[in-house]
Amino acid sequence: MCGIVAYIGRKPSLPILLEGLKRLEYRGYDSAGVAVLNGGLQVCKSVGRVRVLEEKLDALENCPATIGIAHTRWATHGGVTDANAHPHRDDLKAGHGIALIHNGIIENYASIKKYLLEKGHSFTSETDTEVLAHLVGELYRGDLERAVQSALREVTGAYAIAVICEEEPDTLVVARKGSPLMVGVGNGEYVVASDSSAIVAHTTQAFTLPDFTVAKLTRDSFRTSTIDDIEITAEVRELEFELAEIELGPYEHYMLKEIFEQPRSLRVSMQGRLDDRGGGVVLGGIAEHARALANAKRIVMVGQGTALHACMVGKYLMEDLAKIAAEHDFASEFRYRNPIVDFGTAVVAVSQSGETADTLAALQEAKQRGALALGIVNVVGSSIARETDAGIYLRVGPEIGVASTKAFTGQVLVLAMLSLYVGRRRYLSQEYVVNLMSEMRAIPDKVQRILETTEAIKTATAKYVERENWLFLGRGVNYPVALEGALKLKEISYIHAEGMPAAEMKHGPIALIDKGMPVVFVATKNSQYEKVLGNIAEVRSRGGHVIAVATEGDEYIQSVAEDVFYVPDVPEQLQPLVTVIPLQLLAYHAAVLRGKDVDKPRNLAKSVTVE
Ligand code: G6P
Repeated sequence: MCGIVAYIGRKPSLPILLEGLKRLEYRGYDSAGVAVLNGGLQVCKSVGRVRVLEEKLDALENCPATIGIAHTRWATHGGVTDANAHPHRDDLKAGHGIALIHNGIIENYASIKKYLLEKGHSFTSETDTEVLAHLVGELYRGDLERAVQSALREVTGAYAIAVICEEEPDTLVVARKGSPLMVGVGNGEYVVASDSSAIVAHTTQAFTLPDFTVAKLTRDSFRTSTIDDIEITAEVRELEFELAEIELGPYEHYMLKEIFEQPRSLRVSMQGRLDDRGGGVVLGGIAEHARALANAKRIVMVGQGTALHACMVGKYLMEDLAKIAAEHDFASEFRYRNPIVDFGTAVVAVSQSGETADTLAALQEAKQRGALALGIVNVVGSSIARETDAGIYLRVGPEIGVASTKAFTGQVLVLAMLSLYVGRRRYLSQEYVVNLMSEMRAIPDKVQRILETTEAIKTATAKYVERENWLFLGRGVNYPVALEGALKLKEISYIHAEGMPAAEMKHGPIALIDKGMPVVFVATKNSQYEKVLGNIAEVRSRGGHVIAVATEGDEYIQSVAEDVFYVPDVPEQLQPLVTVIPLQLLAYHAAVLRGKDVDKPRNLAKSVTVE
């Protein structure tokens, strides 16, 4: 949801900013812009991808500016136009040559704008960000850091900002509240970005700014303070991943790369966490709260998008393995619903990025109401990770593709481990846990086997790719997988797809089924297999084309399905880890066959940092 990058140092800033923007483009890609201080302030912006901006910047190719800011946008306030693209400037007539980039939303921008209009400011865009740029300009008295602090004291909402000023060519000021921002500390240079992917090429030392704080960066030093100017200490730490992890390598798209990384990411996620000798799962991050969790009356798992689907699987696992009343909820609904949450409730926020605004807010709400607040997050040091009482990292490595894949299997795996962890402390026998852990260990190789069928999945997908309406059906633990399959297809190929419990189809959606409509069933061998066969028959008798995800060795299914994607046999609780893989591949191939931009689907952003 908007990517920001800023640089101050001794090297030409433009190539660094553009390369950073390309790394962050997955966060938003409506338009892009850059501002540098090169004698005076130079701003260039453009609707479209970063490469369009790059073409426009040809004239600045050898620009020696060593300080600059850049932005890639996912529109919130104001349409997708050059004028609304960032950077925004302060007042052109009475201003100080200030340029500002912003990720977030300034909620009280209307009242600030009214005040500034009364003061004689005139605006060139419809954005909340331009209002903030003008406010900084209005409060500027020869000290950019002070002006930013003063402006932010007037602001409500969320922001990660970077600001430069013609009158202070050796100062870059950045600040944050609610939206992510990281400062990379190099040798005589700083690279600031929404996330570490735009930093690792330059330095592996970085710090994250806490909420309501500002960093003033000059070439050789920095100062961090609150917006009330109380100096604070920044904790510089080593970044966890390497450049190679965010390169495409031999793959055509990040999504495909990340689908194929799953055997490895699942292995890494399990490493050191399955202890046969101790007879249980080891989760160091939550050890302090083990007893509270085991005694919890209720577990509520919250997330959005794919993370919510993982929470839905988590509900089945928690109830089945830990025998604790478990619920899942959209974080966005949970936080505004006046939920019943108290000291006996554990709330688990599930999020790949750790920055999703609604999930973060739901967690804060739960904490305020006295719940134990846990996080299952991928990005180390992210807002949700820092806000929780304790948590478990996914350890699946950076996920760049907008459509989430390896994070989903990582989330399901961690929820399975958490369920065993709690279950063992309640009533599960050591033997049962050791058995299921050994089944878990076998999953990565099984996922690998499914990946090897990618060409067959592509061939089958090609038969249906022109169809505009699909259904995805599953039962029990595979119902969330059906939802996830439908979501993947919608997200990247723009095909209308609905997922639902297979039994629910009869209560309305069956009316949609006509000749040749593709209906994908997750029909693996488990406690609900026979029931699913019944639902398949209902679809067939109405002319629907059945595509089944089935268990290896199930030959019968071939007689009732047009196409079958086989997955190896695994215990029912772990099935989502394998059944989702063919559906990820199906969505990927459908999008490629339809000529869509797989890694940058229209209207979407990887990380939604506004409500
Ligand atoms: C966005 C992304 C989804 C993701 C969801 C939650 O909508 O496009 O892929 O599942 O946010 O993101 P999170 O980072 O909290 O898992």
